[in-house]
Amino acid sequence: MSPSTEELRTHVAATLQRGRARTTALTEVDEHELTTQHSPLMSPLIWDLAHIGNQEELWLVRDVGGREPVRADIDELYDAFKHSRSSRPGLPLLNPAEARGYVGTVRDKVFDVLEASSFSGNPLEDNAFAFGMIAQHEQQHAETMLATHQLRRGEPVLHAATPAPATRALPPEVIVPAGEFTMGTSTEPWALDNERSAHQVHLPAFAIDTTPVTNEQYQEFIADDGYGRREWWSAAGWEHRLQAELGAPQFWQRADDGSWWRRRFGHLEAVPPREPVMHVCFYEAEAYARWAGKRLPTEAEWEKAARFDPASGRSRRFPWGDDDPTPEHANLGQRHLRPAAVGSYSAGASALGVHQLIGDVWEWCSSGFHPYPGFAVFPYAEYSQVFFGGDYRTLRGGSFGTDEVVARSTFRNWDHPIRRQIFAGFRCARDLSPSEAG
Ligand SMILES: [Fe+2]
Repeated sequence: MSPSTEELRTHVAATLQRGRARTTALTEVDEHELTTQHSPLMSPLIWDLAHIGNQEELWLVRDVGGREPVRADIDELYDAFKHSRSSRPGLPLLNPAEARGYVGTVRDKVFDVLEASSFSGNPLEDNAFAFGMIAQHEQQHAETMLATHQLRRGEPVLHAATPAPATRALPPEVIVPAGEFTMGTSTEPWALDNERSAHQVHLPAFAIDTTPVTNEQYQEFIADDGYGRREWWSAAGWEHRLQAELGAPQFWQRADDGSWWRRRFGHLEAVPPREPVMHVCFYEAEAYARWAGKRLPTEAEWEKAARFDPASGRSRRFPWGDDDPTPEHANLGQRHLRPAAVGSYSAGASALGVHQLIGDVWEWCSSGFHPYPGFAVFPYAEYSQVFFGGDYRTLRGGSFGTDEVVARSTFRNWDHPIRRQIFAGFRCARDLSPSEAG
């Protein structure tokens, strides 16, 4: 049942406020930390902050609201397509006080626009789409800013509770039966253009890991000289491994006694064996899978494992059903600043019995980033279309750093196969042998 106009208004307001609370928490650091570029891969935090406000101004204040610009003079500075991340510290950016004032002014106007909107009459306003798009944009930057925090050096500044210990021992794999399923969505109101439309996909039967690959499993790959053996790596992967001198996940280091440690938001700690491995690039995930006698799942396989309900034959909104996520379903929203051990969140398992698909770590898939059949740009080509067909690999399911407004089962993320600063891990899949396939 679709919500009433007032219910939708309340939901939009709460969603925008949740995003702003997170942005504020991630930017409550001193001026030096805000304006420093902690890695050439990332913007200074102060760029993200004003960029969040600028996108909100462009879409909600000017387009939806039809209001006068707040700061038309800064549009160019905060256009992500005009300036590479590495060049952003050299721009005449708003200082921290100006940036905070700017995002606050924009937000006040957005609440006026929200109050006046009937959520109908044009595609941007129908079902509050543009508000949802901007809420997702802020939360995606909140995850990017969290990755910047992981890259910065120095004392910890972020704090969160540790996830509850895992409660379940699970079988290693689940068999997904052959057949059609519905991939993508035509009904999710805030789904972005690349998730549309719903379409039927036929897959042969396959096996998929019940949980993401753990640190303990990944250490076996390292111990078996996985980084030294060319046969596990693709040609491009091996070339990158040599050139970047990869030998372990990013942020890992080895103690003199041979034990593995990691740096996590300023803490140095022993690598927890049962947590999903993260900060590995696509090439490392691919090499591990080959070493394990498996492969990475395609995007379609991941989505079928997550959504297909064999009892009804339909695809669910989320692995657990059609209800929005709660803290019992998945590790989302930066409630914890780490993935949870495998065997956690049993309430979030899919109908087929696959666990921890949503939250914890983004999962690398073998697929490139391509449009679904009948793809139509909405509302602008720079969201998805300009990225189709690049060297990207897709990532699914969101991480502990992803907000629920983003972490749909149909949501598609993509990145270059060499990227490791994102909160990404993976699970493996494999074809069935003739006897297993029956
Ligand atoms: Fe952006």
